[in-house]
Amino acid sequence: MFAGSLSCTHRVRLWLARTGALALVVGAALSSAFGQDAGDGGEMRPVADMFQPLSRPAEMILGPTIVVLLVTTGIFVVVSSVLIFVIWKFRRKSDADDHQEPPQIYGSTHIELAWTVVPIIITVVLILVTSRTIGEIQNRKLPENAVQIRLVGHQWWWEVHYPKEGIITANEIHVPRSDRTGPGERPTEIILESADVIHSFWVPQLAGKTDLVPNKRNRTWIEPFSTGTFFGNCAEYCGTQHANMLLRVIVEEPEAYERWIQKMKAPVPAPATELVAAGRKAFFANSCVSCHRVEGTPAAGIFGPDLTKLATRQTIGAGVAPLTPENLRSWVRDPQILKTGCLMPDMKLSESEVDSITAYLLTLK
Ligand code: CUA
Repeated sequence: MFAGSLSCTHRVRLWLARTGALALVVGAALSSAFGQDAGDGGEMRPVADMFQPLSRPAEMILGPTIVVLLVTTGIFVVVSSVLIFVIWKFRRKSDADDHQEPPQIYGSTHIELAWTVVPIIITVVLILVTSRTIGEIQNRKLPENAVQIRLVGHQWWWEVHYPKEGIITANEIHVPRSDRTGPGERPTEIILESADVIHSFWVPQLAGKTDLVPNKRNRTWIEPFSTGTFFGNCAEYCGTQHANMLLRVIVEEPEAYERWIQKMKAPVPAPATELVAAGRKAFFANSCVSCHRVEGTPAAGIFGPDLTKLATRQTIGAGVAPLTPENLRSWVRDPQILKTGCLMPDMKLSESEVDSITAYLLTLK
């Protein structure tokens, strides 16, 4: 069905590539702001372009996306051309207007049939094209070795669980790169839940959107074929900081992914300096622990992000700022400055507590 539209597809992609120049400029600015420290996240991919899929489900929806885009663009062009023509043709003409009422037409079976039947046919074709692909994606049997992730949406951050490995983290998902076939084929299954309102998981280069709905368990999967850090975001309005509910998917070579798993399981080091020890003490003395968890310590809060390996992440505040000592210090002093409206309050810590807690948090890796 797509064979005939291939050259068309190419032209559309070319056009999109050209109009994407602005997005690239914005993306370059973003990557200079956020991408300087790629760490072991590999290549940064801040331009989340769904027309350049790098994962199986995103590749599968590209064809139907272009078909729907072409059909709806055609409808838009026809409707707006007719509208512009009618507005121009029947505009008020002072000299020719005889002030007579124009002929009144009540109903036309032919025209009414045309504007009912044609849209129905178009809609049915679009339903068939898209539901076939949706079915193929949803019914895909994933291999036994697939990575399992449980992703819980919160206002406004992502809780990430690796149930098989017993790892909990936040806002950054690590997955292995998959081969298209053979033993290296290893997709990632993602179970989606919500702790409060509806959110939506969207990493455009990896897969289409799937909602995270309270009291419901949704499922999606990704299968990236290229390494790098992929940018995603919450795609369902969920409150004040919806736009800053950002997500990163870090795709690594299988060996690097296994190393990451081991690093996440390794115990947190004991404080090495007096400042860090003081910070640890202040962290437990204040109410940080009622919301945050640090594996292997009495901190077992579940309302905020798990901080066990906080210092290994690229960003803080679900992507609101790069993780640097200055930004982390600003966050500890008053999170409302970087992320107004977020659910972590200003704890009114003293300057020395802010310094020591920041130093302690930076050792969590
Ligand atoms: Cu979460 Cu929008």
